[in-house]
Amino acid sequence: MPPALPPRRLSVAPMLDWTDRHYRHMARQITRHTWLYTEMINAGAVIYGDPARFLHKNECENPVALQLGGSDPAALAQAAAKTAAFGYDEINLNCGCPSPRVQKGAFGACLMNEAGLVADCLNAMQDAAPDCAVTVKHRIGVDRQTDYQTVADFVGTLRSKTACTTFIVHARNAWLDGLSPKENREVPPLKYDYVYRLKREFPDLEIIINGGITTNSEIAAHLQYVDGVMVGRECYHNPMIMRDWDRLFYGDTRAPIELDVLVDRLKHYAETQIAAGNGTILRHMARHYLGLMHGLNGARVWRRMLSDAALLKPNNPELIAAAWAEVQKHAHTRQAV
Ligand SMILES: Cc1cc2nc3c(=O)[nH]c(=O)nc-3n(C[C@H](O)[C@H](O)[C@H](O)COP(=O)(O)O)c2cc1C
Repeated sequence: MPPALPPRRLSVAPMLDWTDRHYRHMARQITRHTWLYTEMINAGAVIYGDPARFLHKNECENPVALQLGGSDPAALAQAAAKTAAFGYDEINLNCGCPSPRVQKGAFGACLMNEAGLVADCLNAMQDAAPDCAVTVKHRIGVDRQTDYQTVADFVGTLRSKTACTTFIVHARNAWLDGLSPKENREVPPLKYDYVYRLKREFPDLEIIINGGITTNSEIAAHLQYVDGVMVGRECYHNPMIMRDWDRLFYGDTRAPIELDVLVDRLKHYAETQIAAGNGTILRHMARHYLGLMHGLNGARVWRRMLSDAALLKPNNPELIAAAWAEVQKHAHTRQAV
């Protein structure tokens, strides 16, 4: 049996190219309890790729889940075993990505049409990583399947055939034909009521809602109906939204981090990473920091300095302190966000 884990009341969504270990390090400074997800990593990359690139994480990141992409139970089992050894708390299977078919059959959202295969994948992963929670992230349907029963049948099948008890539901369909991945995060309508109904009909499962959630009041409203809320884009473009989550949603009475302390820690982190000599450069980290001043006077100068190729080139973390000094020259009153 997987060990008891801190609840996923709040989580940061897996986002390709965005939620890498540098982003997750920053997020963890802002919130102690929020569950973090890696980018989706193909099972093959985990098995055969460079572990430093695909699996290494910072010690501080936990609780953290690694998301796998794939549809071959044997490959996913191998990848899950390797992942578990790197200290992840959870391994999540992607059944929501609207990518076209790849090499060996389908993966991502196509898998919603193959619940039996998904069950085989989850069981293989759980057998290979018995101490890790194995979970699934999916949509409410693919293409023109607009009825509630589609997602209910998918969840019901997995509930009866696997030990998976955590379902992260992006509350919109994936349209596999004709929409880009970006459009697939915006165009198909959100149906939060389907996710609430899943929780009512499967009360023993942990149901996490995702999609289009951007404010703390929206989060609080959803938590009346489901076990947890996963936020994606808002956590990237406005990471300081997470500043109050420990207090508001986990009952942690400690004071949230102040920006000057955070900036100092990020600078220190950048120094350590660059000194490690593993190819990490300032730009790899600074690109995730651009949204930190969202809503503050001075946000623009911060973004401009930390994305300026000429300023980034010397690879000197002092740039972070210099950008902060510029921000402070502006009145640092936080506008309503
Ligand atoms: C840049 C980007 C990359 C994404 N990559 C993944 C991914 O690797 N795996 C996944 O399950 N979802 C991925 N998603 C979808 C998010 O996890 C999430 O389901 C979606 O953005 C809806 O949540 P939001 O409205 O809070 O952003 C990605 C989204 C974005 C914006």
